Amino acid sequence: MNDALIQAQDLSRSYRTGREQISVLRGLSLDLRRGEAVAVIGPSGSGKSTLLNLLNGLLAPDSGQLRLFGRDRSQLNDDDWAELRRTRIATLFQDGNLIPTLTVARNIVFRAGLAGLQEHDGEILLERLGIADTAHRYPDQLSGGQRQRAALACAFVMRPELILADEPTGSLDYATAKRVAPLFFDAIRERALGALIVTHNPELAQRCDQVLELREGALRPWDSALSS
Ligand SMILES: Nc1ncnc2c1ncn2[C@@H]1O[C@H](COP(=O)(O)OP(=O)(O)O)[C@@H](O)[C@H]1O
Ligand SMILES: [Mg+2]
Repeated sequence: MNDALIQAQDLSRSYRTGREQISVLRGLSLDLRRGEAVAVIGPSGSGKSTLLNLLNGLLAPDSGQLRLFGRDRSQLNDDDWAELRRTRIATLFQDGNLIPTLTVARNIVFRAGLAGLQEHDGEILLERLGIADTAHRYPDQLSGGQRQRAALACAFVMRPELILADEPTGSLDYATAKRVAPLFFDAIRERALGALIVTHNPELAQRCDQVLELREGALRPWDSALSS
């Protein structure tokens, strides 16, 4: 079986607003294999969220090559991308991705159903994340940190092969953030999940196979000696 989840080469992406064109990604390359975790750091506005949305098909690159699960993006139509997002690629957006009219428990059942799963471990996930008591609440009845954890449970319950996480611990205090790391790393070990994690949390970043910095539109190995 092909181990490659993401093969990105020389990706570029800009945005046009009115007359202005801003070039966000400029020749970005990235490889991610099954069983591998890559942390991405970079200042606000450097293009981290743009990158994740190129990888889940919500945005298209202006140029460059992108293969997912060994398939070239030129061979993927909108239905293929939707199918990938339902069943194989979980994106954890910064602002959470819960359906506001469903309780946490129903959000979980819904996500497992979309992924075609008859059974799910949602209750265990909520327990592990310390939010079992929120199962029957609606998203607007949760704190920011509880919402973020509920979104994590929804992402993991679909048993994705690739997870793209945008600051998954951004709303969590230190102790709570510590509970999140095992979710990623157990799934990476047990199910050969691949993870691309935008994070500034050292607990998460240090356990990744690589830490890359997004700077000037491209990814490069992060040199901790140069920061600070
Ligand atoms: N839809 C959009 N239209 C125009 N500019 C955008 C859009 N989305 C993002 N940008 C700009 O692109 C740059 C990168 O944004 P983003 O990918 O969200 O960065 P990050 O996630 O690293 O903070 C920023 O300058 C942002 O203002
Ligand atoms: Mg962002």
